[in-house]
Amino acid sequence: MNSFGKNFRLSIFGESHGKTIGILIDGCPSGISINDSDFLPDLLRRKSGKKGTSTRTESDKPKIISGIFNNKTTGAPILIEFDNDNIKPSDYKQFVKTPRPGHADFVANKKFKGFNDYNGGGHFSGRLSLALVVAGVIAKKIIPNIKIKATIKEIYGTSDINKALDFAIKNNDSVGGIIECKAQNIPIGLGEPFFNSVESVISHLAFSIPGIKAIEFGAGFNASKMLGSEFNDLIIDKKGTTKTNNSGGINGGITNGNDLIFRLAVRPTASISKPQKTFNFEKNKIQNLIIKGRHDICITLRIPVIVEAITAIALTDFYLENN
Ligand SMILES: Cc1cc2nc3c(=O)[nH]c(=O)nc-3n(C[C@H](O)[C@H](O)[C@H](O)COP(=O)(O)O)c2cc1C
Repeated sequence: MNSFGKNFRLSIFGESHGKTIGILIDGCPSGISINDSDFLPDLLRRKSGKKGTSTRTESDKPKIISGIFNNKTTGAPILIEFDNDNIKPSDYKQFVKTPRPGHADFVANKKFKGFNDYNGGGHFSGRLSLALVVAGVIAKKIIPNIKIKATIKEIYGTSDINKALDFAIKNNDSVGGIIECKAQNIPIGLGEPFFNSVESVISHLAFSIPGIKAIEFGAGFNASKMLGSEFNDLIIDKKGTTKTNNSGGINGGITNGNDLIFRLAVRPTASISKPQKTFNFEKNKIQNLIIKGRHDICITLRIPVIVEAITAIALTDFYLENN
């Protein structure tokens, strides 16, 4: 299934090298101001073309098909599409019989019995994250005054991003990284205990971004090495402000009004130009694999804006439940 959400409901569609990709958003309140130019800053931040990213550049121009009238949301479903203009399907056929290690080629072929569009990774492609970014732009407008910022903390274990990229480029390899997201001015009381905790829903969406491998909230894994007296966040005023924020702004699955903080680990890109081995399913043996085509050397560089989007989407779904 390709849908998410209870109140702010999303369905994404499309394939990397198909005609279009896009998103259907249902449940968006009416009267939210949206101009085409509102989408541009976030779409630009996700764009490829800079050092360490793919040379496939698309215009990424959103085509609003429905749900926005006179620059305001109407309350009806919003459909937004993006054309795929810069495509090269021929690079991908080989991955049907010789799948890329660590990519989705093998599982896609098995799960969809060979009917999947394999070009550019098809429906598994990072290109579909474009749809999440536009939904994020709309979601950010629904919760008043909310501020969400995701930043790259490190690439390949260092804060010297250039050095890590140069190393990967020189070795025809790829690198991953860590992204931290901080959301501020969040209303107290978003989220539910247990299954719909804020952590559960943000994680659900975070792992919907291709390439995310781990998440931690607040002190995260480090909490396991702390004493209770060190970890516990002391409330210092009537608003519930805490002196420390080891809980990352969430207690019992519910936002406590302090900054929501989480970090994500992004894998190194599967498609590297360094020669690798793979299994040939026709010849039933391991053989050499050379991956051609245009790929991000470091997908982390393009992901912060997508993380902001999924955070806004998760919080908006909760916000609409409470309001
Ligand atoms: C913005 C973005 C761009 C991506 N670009 C590439 C790419 O150029 N080459 C590639 O192999 N994977 C790329 N990926 C990652 C793959 O889509 C992903 O690794 C693959 O679908 C397998 O999913 P998994 O890593 O979550 O297991 C990209 C992901 C995102 C979010």
